[in-house]
Amino acid sequence: MTGHDLTTVAAARWATAHDEPKATPATVPRPFHVEGSPTLAYGANMADGVDGTPLYVTGLVRDLSGRPVAAAVLDVWQADADGLYDSQVVGDEVRLRGKYTSRADGTFCVQTIAPLGYSIPMDGPVGELISRTDISHYRPAHVYFLITSPGQHSLTTHLFARGAAYLYSDVLFGTRSELVVDFDRRPPGPTPGGGTSDVPWLSAHYDFVLQPRTDRPQPTDEGR
Ligand SMILES: [Fe+2]
Repeated sequence: MTGHDLTTVAAARWATAHDEPKATPATVPRPFHVEGSPTLAYGANMADGVDGTPLYVTGLVRDLSGRPVAAAVLDVWQADADGLYDSQVVGDEVRLRGKYTSRADGTFCVQTIAPLGYSIPMDGPVGELISRTDISHYRPAHVYFLITSPGQHSLTTHLFARGAAYLYSDVLFGTRSELVVDFDRRPPGPTPGGGTSDVPWLSAHYDFVLQPRTDRPQPTDEGR
């Protein structure tokens, strides 16, 4: 393990201290993010062929004044039902990630599977440090979003399932109460995006609020 985890912890703390009021809290940078994910249609399944409980995340992208943001790109990625990211399982193959675009009314619909929490690597300096404390080294289940739109600052954040294990002992301090959402269990039948599910599925809803660009110098994620 490199200093990546240390910078992740530092950046998470930076974000906690520097969020603008009202905007969706930024959290960690982009662990396990891969460039070039495929572009997917509204409601398309980014978990095609991966076992797990179907999860639909719907919501709105809007700006600080409440206006819907159309054509925002939501680059979404997550771990699978075993807590593993695609780069840990299949190398360069695309798995459990995709880019969705908000519609004219700002709405989006992501179809995926429920993620699972996981342990951060415990074989490096951060692991050694944490093993000497009573902090849990497990992260609660989450789905990452990198949201970009001209005129708005890009937002990297993640959503957590209410009731997930380790939610409030998160080792990377990324869990913010504003980012905890209900994963409501629904019976087989119609799903968001116009499809149907033969099995029970989960529904989550979240509105992302972006900060408009200003002339003020902003930090970037470059090099983290
Ligand atoms: Fe993660």
